[in-house]
Amino acid sequence: MRDVDASIDSVTLLGLQIVVTPDYRGRGLSHGIVDVVRQVAIDRDLQRLVIPIRPTHKHLYPLTPIDRYIEWERDGETFDPWLRAHVRAGARIVKPCSSAMTITGTVSDWESWTGMVFPESGDYIVPQALVPVTIDRENDTGRYVEPNVWIEHSL
Ligand SMILES: CC(C)(COP(=O)(O)OP(=O)(O)OC[C@H]1O[C@@H](n2cnc3c(N)ncnc32)[C@H](O)[C@@H]1OP(=O)(O)O)[C@@H](O)C(=O)NCCC(=O)NCCS
Repeated sequence: MRDVDASIDSVTLLGLQIVVTPDYRGRGLSHGIVDVVRQVAIDRDLQRLVIPIRPTHKHLYPLTPIDRYIEWERDGETFDPWLRAHVRAGARIVKPCSSAMTITGTVSDWESWTGMVFPESGDYIVPQALVPVTIDRENDTGRYVEPNVWIEHSL
């Protein structure tokens, strides 16, 4: 708002999240959505589109640090499908953010959210989580710090 008040023109469109409803995932829809978002920015004469990405296959490799994971390649292309979709559309990977979202709760919160039991303190691999969840039974807390990856489309 300070930029608007000072009549400073925007140069960047920030996308927060692209979501395809579960029944329609895996059908190639995301490519068209990325193209549309890019076009929205182009139509407004913006210079770049930036988006924080949640890599779709990171949850399968929760022990791999995010900065290593984003460098993985397969057949000469970015390994992660969602990052690869953006790279193919013209984006570059800017950098990972190791603490994009933090979720804390009691041990019983985490047991009800995950359907797992956590008998002792330590790190646990939880389905769909991108990194392990840290359980501290002595302080009755569980903590999850999710990473993401910032990408930039030059337009
Ligand atoms: C991320 C998301 C938007 C992708 O949309 P989608 O329509 O399912 O993706 P697409 O079908 O267009 O596939 C994109 C790429 O992922 C690959 N892919 C999709 N589902 C896959 C699966 N289950 N296993 C392996 N690869 C898969 C596709 O093959 C494609 O890669 P390719 O072009 O190299 O073949 C969708 O999965 C989603 O809404 N996820 C939940 C919300 C989320 O995490 N959003 C991202 C936050 S930034």
